[in-house]
Amino acid sequence: MNVIFTRRYHFSASHRLDCEALSVQENRDVYGKCNNPYGHGHNYRLEVSVRGPVDRATGMVMNMVDLDKLVGGSVVARFHLANLNTDPLFQQEVPTTENLCRAIHRLLAGELPPGKLDRIRIEETENNFFEYAGEAARD
Ligand code: NI
Repeated sequence: MNVIFTRRYHFSASHRLDCEALSVQENRDVYGKCNNPYGHGHNYRLEVSVRGPVDRATGMVMNMVDLDKLVGGSVVARFHLANLNTDPLFQQEVPTTENLCRAIHRLLAGELPPGKLDRIRIEETENNFFEYAGEAARD
């Protein structure tokens, strides 16, 4: 009897989409304005979903205070008002929101009990959002 609990967080960060393997012109063609040399920012809305049985004593899947501490410390503090391109996580890959989902999933999955993290969902703009549920669940 698993229940999924989702909590929403916010952070603002900048990025520039630029792939080292592509030429200057190819990067312009692929990423358009997102390849602007000076970067641009987003107010990201992050949803973290945890899954599990409801604890008989507390009636909860996970204590919200504990989740806030974890996400606040490992994700929001790290990325809020940061340039994603300078983060060590994005030295080898482009800081698209697809990759940001995967990076945040990795960070949180490493600190939660196995199987507890259900998925990461990030809204980059009003019309763009991305989800990642880990390799075991789907690719
Ligand atoms: Ni962008």
